[in-house]
Amino acid sequence: MKYAPNVRLIRLMCSGRLDPTFVLRALSDGADGVMITGCHPGECHYIEQNYKALRRYLLLKRVLAGLGIEPERVKLVWASAAEGARFAAETTAFVEEIRKLGPLNWGKADDRPQTVDDGLSSVVHGQEMEVSA
Ligand code: FES
Repeated sequence: MKYAPNVRLIRLMCSGRLDPTFVLRALSDGADGVMITGCHPGECHYIEQNYKALRRYLLLKRVLAGLGIEPERVKLVWASAAEGARFAAETTAFVEEIRKLGPLNWGKADDRPQTVDDGLSSVVHGQEMEVSA
């Protein structure tokens, strides 16, 4: 089955093995989005690890929002190993959603802290820093 060619698959034994730092690392290393898949609730081979994945996913979305990154860049899809067509369709749809968001560029742009208005703040801080003789 075909899906977008710009997707890199990383296999885990179970969605419960997903450490949220894997996702953050992928995004900071250049991925524009991360789609997590796992067995449907109640069908995990390791009993209930996909519920753990769900909790971690929800936490990740909150962390991303707190970092100023669109939470939509991470998506959780329940798709078992027998649902290749669903996986391909979800992957293709996710790639299109990410394409609409544009590149993330986390860690690629200049590394200085961002402000709402750099020009204004430098003027204000410049005046505050002036020392009269
Ligand atoms: S085996 Fe746990 S989510 Fe598939």
